[in-house]
Amino acid sequence: MAASITASPLQSLVSPPHYIRPTFLMCPPQWYDVDYAINPWMASNLHRSSRDLAFTQWKALYEALQSVADVRLLHPEPGCPDLVFLAHGAVVHHGVAALSSFSHNERRSETPHLRAWMEQHGFLLWNTPRETAFEGEGDVLFNATGTELWAGHGVRTCRSSHRHVATAWHVPVHSLHLVDPRFYHLDTCFAPLAGGYLLYYPGAFDAASLELIEAAFPTTKRISVSESDATKLACSALNVGNRIYIGEVSDSLAASLQAHGFDVERLALGEFLKGGGGAKSLALRLSDLSTTHGMVADISERRSPAEGSAFL
Ligand code: ARG
Repeated sequence: MAASITASPLQSLVSPPHYIRPTFLMCPPQWYDVDYAINPWMASNLHRSSRDLAFTQWKALYEALQSVADVRLLHPEPGCPDLVFLAHGAVVHHGVAALSSFSHNERRSETPHLRAWMEQHGFLLWNTPRETAFEGEGDVLFNATGTELWAGHGVRTCRSSHRHVATAWHVPVHSLHLVDPRFYHLDTCFAPLAGGYLLYYPGAFDAASLELIEAAFPTTKRISVSESDATKLACSALNVGNRIYIGEVSDSLAASLQAHGFDVERLALGEFLKGGGGAKSLALRLSDLSTTHGMVADISERRSPAEGSAFL
């Protein structure tokens, strides 16, 4: 196993990036389509998505996110209809990007595009061997303080990749077993939130995983979602400080999040639900967690223009 961080020649000129504002990377859905089925959501929606509507929905999230974060853009690529779900391309922390090794052939052509962007922007790259599937923030998520990882296995990501990925930052990793094919990525059923909260759907995990979750997150910090909200991919919630961007979840879930101090913005993201993704999967976090969650209040005053908006 090639357990080393690689640096491109450019990195003798560029030091790893350190963002001082919440920063995300998104990819416009110019080539988005449900033209293969690699999850149960796609199987019932083959060729049923509208690219125009997807673009409108994506843009609403992009614009909303810009009120609390800087958003960089990756150029969309023909032949990569799922590249819009950019959060699955990597996990980023402290200037190191652990790049995905997609389980399905259909998504493997995405990685060179993200790799090139990461290299150009000075990230140190942590590679995962081809034979060991790992799907970025789809299955590997930091806790809110960036001190430990939670990692899913059972559908896409191999359990054996968990330790390898955690070694990139020398942090502990807790492995969780996903048992419901509708929740094929950890980020479809588990979202660590600012303040040490957890939004999750218990039905997606086996008993041993639930024990681990319950031992780590006290009852007062666990926000469990109903099956009905879970199937709107409520747990694919994009969280920046006290702000949460989420799909069209129930009033009761929105109220519960608000009661825990979150400012909730519900967005229509139905075209992406057809592909099996929610709000969080559309944006890859680039800034460290302390920055992402730490300075929301005054961020809209100091936001800089979006990079790469020329192709929107
Ligand atoms: N079609 C993509 C896939 O199956 C969708 C990814 C969205 N996933 C998610 N975890 N929210 O890989």
